[in-house]
Amino acid sequence: MRKKIVAGNWKMNGSLELVNNLLPRLVEVSEETQAQILVCPPAPYLTQAQALAGDKVAVGAQNCSEQASGAFTGEVSVSMLTELGMSHVLIGHSERRAIYSETDALVVAKVKAAVEAGLVAVLCVGETLEQREAGHTLGVVLGQIKVVLDELTVEQWSQLVVAYEPVWAIGTGKTATSAQAQDVHQAIRQQLAGYDVQQAEAVSILYGGSVKASNAGELFAQPDIDGALVGGASLVAEEFISICRQAD
Ligand code: PGA
Repeated sequence: MRKKIVAGNWKMNGSLELVNNLLPRLVEVSEETQAQILVCPPAPYLTQAQALAGDKVAVGAQNCSEQASGAFTGEVSVSMLTELGMSHVLIGHSERRAIYSETDALVVAKVKAAVEAGLVAVLCVGETLEQREAGHTLGVVLGQIKVVLDELTVEQWSQLVVAYEPVWAIGTGKTATSAQAQDVHQAIRQQLAGYDVQQAEAVSILYGGSVKASNAGELFAQPDIDGALVGGASLVAEEFISICRQAD
């Protein structure tokens, strides 16, 4: 059985106060649910989040460098993340691809660096509205995943989570319908099966894009949706906790 995961991507939001308030509550919720709760606050809050997270709540970064160390001002290496006890890192979020011009090649290099360091890479993929309307959704999404799969061994998939996040649904309040999301998730599962039928069943595929307490249940009921990557609603305790509970 693959793991259900509910991940909170705080983006460049939150505060020390939010870390101090939310993490203890998530620790309580983690005792009641089988789902893996993952919190990805901004880098300066990672150590405090980790200090409060206990054994069951995972803490991850929102980005990492593909480089091991050196003169890369502003970057954070994967070994720094593992040294601080982080278990996960988001890679290739659409905001990084669009605003910071991250290419597929850079995303692949980051995933490899993360996995080789022992982190779980949460690979974010998704199409823009223009690409969807042109009928290119699967071509774009499966292409973004293929470049990564081609560089990983199947054994390394135990450190890979895929997050399908249609760009047009991120932060817009427009969620993909559960059927639209399931179609893409199923195609991703089939793509994985093209590499390894058995291991394809073990990779968690999360949906992201305006997930909230009121739509999470329907999304989670789909056979290939294994949880959510939650942005805005992960900053609101009651919303995020409700989503975590619905993933069980
Ligand atoms: P959203 O963001 O839930 O605010 O749409 C999701 C994400 O970008 O990961």
